[in-house]
Amino acid sequence: MSARSLLTIDDLGSSGIMRVLDLADHMAEVNRRPNPKVPALRGKTVCNVFFEDSTRTRLSFETAAKRLSADTMTFAASQSSINKGESLRDTIETIAAMGVDAFVVRHKSSGAPQLIAGWTQASVINAGDGWHAHPTQALLDAYTVRTALSRTGGFDGLRMAIVGDVKHSRVARSTVQAFRMLGAHVTVVAPRTLLPPDVGDRFADAVTDRLDDLIGDVDVLYLLRMQHERMHEALVPSLREYTTRFGLTPRRAAMLGPQTLVMHPGPMNRGVEIAVDPAELPGAVITQQVTNGIAVRMAVLFDLLGSGGPIAPTTDAATDVTTEGPTE
Ligand code: NCD
Repeated sequence: MSARSLLTIDDLGSSGIMRVLDLADHMAEVNRRPNPKVPALRGKTVCNVFFEDSTRTRLSFETAAKRLSADTMTFAASQSSINKGESLRDTIETIAAMGVDAFVVRHKSSGAPQLIAGWTQASVINAGDGWHAHPTQALLDAYTVRTALSRTGGFDGLRMAIVGDVKHSRVARSTVQAFRMLGAHVTVVAPRTLLPPDVGDRFADAVTDRLDDLIGDVDVLYLLRMQHERMHEALVPSLREYTTRFGLTPRRAAMLGPQTLVMHPGPMNRGVEIAVDPAELPGAVITQQVTNGIAVRMAVLFDLLGSGGPIAPTTDAATDVTTEGPTE
């Protein structure tokens, strides 16, 4: 049985989310320093195990671990003994035998991080598994809204629309869950073919296929990527029709309220779900999502591996981080 892990947003609950977001404020302060590095996780080893392509999540975790002075190992499935037929379990046990405190796992199969957590003493952080969950994306999304809208007390009354390929999206599952836990009202906007079969009250507060009816009234418009690689059948008649009905086109951008935040987890399909240049949208926080990802992942690593025992009290943890200063 492993140490504390972050497999889904349920592992944190609303108080755990708030604890991580508060910690992320201190990490963001570290990141603004000329030398953005603290010794908080010196002596700890974090291993990134990515069985699926990734740019931002992998680099973000790697940077987060380094800024906390942890040692990092990176495992690329494509260059490993997996290609010689070694099983996932043997691979993990081999790496664990080298002395690892946390595995950061991305896998195309839902549930893989949970299996790994059963095979190792180390903490396991889910960096995206199949269509299932992507908890650190949800945390960085929540942190981005909280900082952009100064919503430190939670999201009561916040109206969010999450638009697009919900069916194949682990981001949608985790982000909707986290925002609702914090009090937001979340509407899922998608064609029926891109909704999960179990969509309903338990998944979101409302479901619609009419984006134009609500786009002028939301505080957050969250666009999802069309996941071509996970589609084994034609679920939309054409990408052009999808853009016409569900894309952020110039016509729809003009309908957004002046304060509405526009978000996307990346990578974007320009011209499909987003048919305007986000740089020209005053409320676009897509770049901030990426920047905030580092502070949030530092917070998660510190929360799991830091010196404060199973759950580091926020204030002590914050003091640890902010008073130690740069290391070099
Ligand atoms: C997402 C992912 O891989 O789950 N990207 C990310 O981590 N920022 C979303 C996606 O691939 O559409």
